[in-house]
Amino acid sequence: MSKNRVSRRQFLNYTLTGVGGFMAAGMLMPMVRFAVDPVLQHKGESDFIPTKQKISEITEVPTRVDYTFEQVDAWYTSEVTGSAWVYRDENGEVVALSPVCKHLGCVVDWNSDESNPEHFYCPCHGGLYTKDGTNVPGTPPIAPLDVFPIQDVDGYLHLGKAEPRKGA
Ligand code: FES
Repeated sequence: MSKNRVSRRQFLNYTLTGVGGFMAAGMLMPMVRFAVDPVLQHKGESDFIPTKQKISEITEVPTRVDYTFEQVDAWYTSEVTGSAWVYRDENGEVVALSPVCKHLGCVVDWNSDESNPEHFYCPCHGGLYTKDGTNVPGTPPIAPLDVFPIQDVDGYLHLGKAEPRKGA
């Protein structure tokens, strides 16, 4: 009989260790993949969101432009909708303003308050903003409406992340 013979006890140890290791790897690999998945996700090249608004059709009258985008929150992806007030200023430059009131976050509307025509009006507490988004003193908002950076992509308006107006 050979001296290198594997005993029954050793054989069982090797077998159980191998099977146990295989099963543990089978359970751990999905967990590791799940944990690092957001890091491995391919990030889009641009943070700008496309809209269906043609740049050439933007006029001097503020128009509400709605958009939809996929928001990834760790492992959860949801479809989010938003809007912007878009118009051309006196220099012909396209301006895109956030509709979110800087008082408590209601949504402002253009030209909807009869006593203050040609203003953005917040119906929640009577907030007012001039056409360029400047808050009217004496009304609740204490800052101008945020501004979207914009891009012209093949003639269509793309919106970046709304940010406070420079100098505000
Ligand atoms: S939330 Fe707009 S005025 Fe208060």
